[in-house]
Amino acid sequence: MSFELIVVGGGRMGSALIEGLLSASWCAPTTLAIVEVAVEQRSALSERFPGVAVLASLELDHVGPATGVVLCVKPDFAEGVARLVATCGVGRVLSVVAGLSTARIEAAFPGPIAVVRSMPNTPVLIRRGVSAIAGGSNVTAADLEWAESILGAVGTVVRVSERHLDAVTGLSGSGPAYFFLVVEAMIEAGVHQGLSREVARELVVGTFEGSAALLVQSRESPEELRAQVTSPGGTTAAGLRMLEGRAVRAAFLEAVAGATERSRQLGR
Ligand SMILES: NC(=O)c1ccc[n+]([C@@H]2O[C@H](COP(=O)([O-])OP(=O)(O)OC[C@H]3O[C@@H](n4cnc5c(N)ncnc54)[C@H](OP(=O)(O)O)[C@@H]3O)[C@@H](O)[C@H]2O)c1
Repeated sequence: MSFELIVVGGGRMGSALIEGLLSASWCAPTTLAIVEVAVEQRSALSERFPGVAVLASLELDHVGPATGVVLCVKPDFAEGVARLVATCGVGRVLSVVAGLSTARIEAAFPGPIAVVRSMPNTPVLIRRGVSAIAGGSNVTAADLEWAESILGAVGTVVRVSERHLDAVTGLSGSGPAYFFLVVEAMIEAGVHQGLSREVARELVVGTFEGSAALLVQSRESPEELRAQVTSPGGTTAAGLRMLEGRAVRAAFLEAVAGATERSRQLGR
């Protein structure tokens, strides 16, 4: 029997996608399959996703002309897996593999194939991710919509040209780690001012959660929202002066530039 969608690699990203697709009723569980090499992971996936086929390998009879494949394996294995997928005659491919260009995936196939490349980030694990997608040389508007609908089940999706995917990697792909570092530093700062770690954590996480929601709901820019809590000569102004003095803004410019460059290097 052929499946509508086959996710190759049932790790963190692959299982988050299956979870999102099932929750969004993207298709019936029986039309979905996960290919996973690790035996233990296969039994965990079968238990977690009843009705979804969990396979040890991809076979010809799993694939029809309309079958889509999502590549969710680590970058080191991805080209080999793409060559294997190519032997089965799949209809189109969505890749979440960091650093692997659409051209390299296309080259694994004997003929033209629609390839959409994406860069999601870790909040897809709770269906609050943000992903960017870019099409290869053979994609149609329908292929991009298809990819958008898959990643849309685990968060929001933006379209970019492929040359911008390294910048996306440096910004939103690595972004959660920058954010966690800032949270960590602020909790430590609260502890240094005499608050318990528990209280500091609650205050900092609540502050970020509320501020993010305000930013999403408000029509105002981050600059305007910041100005509203910065009374002339007040406490926030004193804190911000210290941050500007330590060049926090420049540090973020350099962090994103460094991560973008590293993404370019890894993709070569
Ligand atoms: N996690 C993220 O936040 C994130 C964000 C952006 C992009 N990505 C991309 O997503 C991809 C997957 O990342 P991940 O975090 O989900 O990794 P992961 O948790 O290690 O999952 C990869 C899974 O694929 C399995 N696998 C390896 N070779 C296979 C094959 N030939 N056929 C079928 N399954 C195979 C692995 O099994 P073994 O463990 O036995 O090798 C593992 O269970 C990566 O390319 C990464 O660049 C991830």
